[in-house]
Amino acid sequence: MRLISINSCQPGVKLARSIYASNGNTLIGAGVMLSQRMIDRLVDMQINSIYIEDKRTEDIVVEDVISPETRREAMSVIYSTFETFREDPSRRKQMFANPQMGRQVRQVMHSLMDEIKDHRSAMNLLGTVCGVDHYVFAHSFNVTLYTLAIAVKMGFGERELIEIGIGAMLHDVGKMAIPYDILTKPGRLTDSEYEIMQTHTSVGFELLRKQDDIPLLAAHCAYQHHERLDGSGYPRHLKEPAIHQYAKLVGVCDVFDALTSNRVYRRAMLPHEAIELLFTGAGVQFDKEVVEQFRNTIALYPLGLSIQLNTGEKGVVVDNNVGVPSRPIVRILTDSDGQTVETPYELDLASKCNLNLIITDCEALG
Ligand SMILES: [Fe+2]
Repeated sequence: MRLISINSCQPGVKLARSIYASNGNTLIGAGVMLSQRMIDRLVDMQINSIYIEDKRTEDIVVEDVISPETRREAMSVIYSTFETFREDPSRRKQMFANPQMGRQVRQVMHSLMDEIKDHRSAMNLLGTVCGVDHYVFAHSFNVTLYTLAIAVKMGFGERELIEIGIGAMLHDVGKMAIPYDILTKPGRLTDSEYEIMQTHTSVGFELLRKQDDIPLLAAHCAYQHHERLDGSGYPRHLKEPAIHQYAKLVGVCDVFDALTSNRVYRRAMLPHEAIELLFTGAGVQFDKEVVEQFRNTIALYPLGLSIQLNTGEKGVVVDNNVGVPSRPIVRILTDSDGQTVETPYELDLASKCNLNLIITDCEALG
């Protein structure tokens, strides 16, 4: 399979990986041949890139970090929890008085943790792209996945992982109290709208800290995930030592997911671009160790990604080098003159003789 930009997708190609709606249901299943109407619909839904079946890369199989069942379960828990807050503010207090709700959140956290712990290789995050009809839900799922993956790598214990995971899953729950037109406004917010938007942190904290079944530290993730080490964050402009480690983790994953998602005013970044940007703020705004652990956890160049080298040769990423995330193994399909290579060959960009080769372009989100 191969990852291509939706913009270069032609009718008649076969989808190699399913696309999910934000409630976790399958939107278009793997194996379906795409029509122009389906492609147009995916563009409308701001899907950037899709995996398609392709003869010369059919041995590349990108596995889901999270199984479809657990994904569906997690998305439905996120959806119902967030909706409870929105629908009826008077019910907010009782939300987790319903022990089933608290139990569901913990149960799904255990399933996610088990699957993340089983996943040893670099995570292909573009593979988790969901069809989004409400950004907040897909965002909450992604941030939970990233945060848990880093936390597992950093060696946190089981109880801590549950707290961190719940904090990540519900960090933006205060957004349910933000007027819908501000929440979904296409384009940049005005100063006063931005001020209202910022209240989602303290509102989220207030909602969560009253719930018996939610760890207080998870509520603090909602409160502190926009705080930055140098005091430039909000709502309390906390500085480094005052920001809880969990919130530092959630904060980095939150920014990463925002950067790698489409916005009306800019295209989505690829993982290596987003990590590069996070590194420019490492130690100043973001915790350096967290950013470093994140870089070592994810595939900077996702499998199947179409790339171009400085030699002009074009190909796809076929594997990642553990410990050298910036130098993957690529399969060359087109030579430097733009001619199709009869027998594709692989180059390990981390091997000594290929160190002068660099990836100059990636075609996936274009
Ligand atoms: Fe937020």
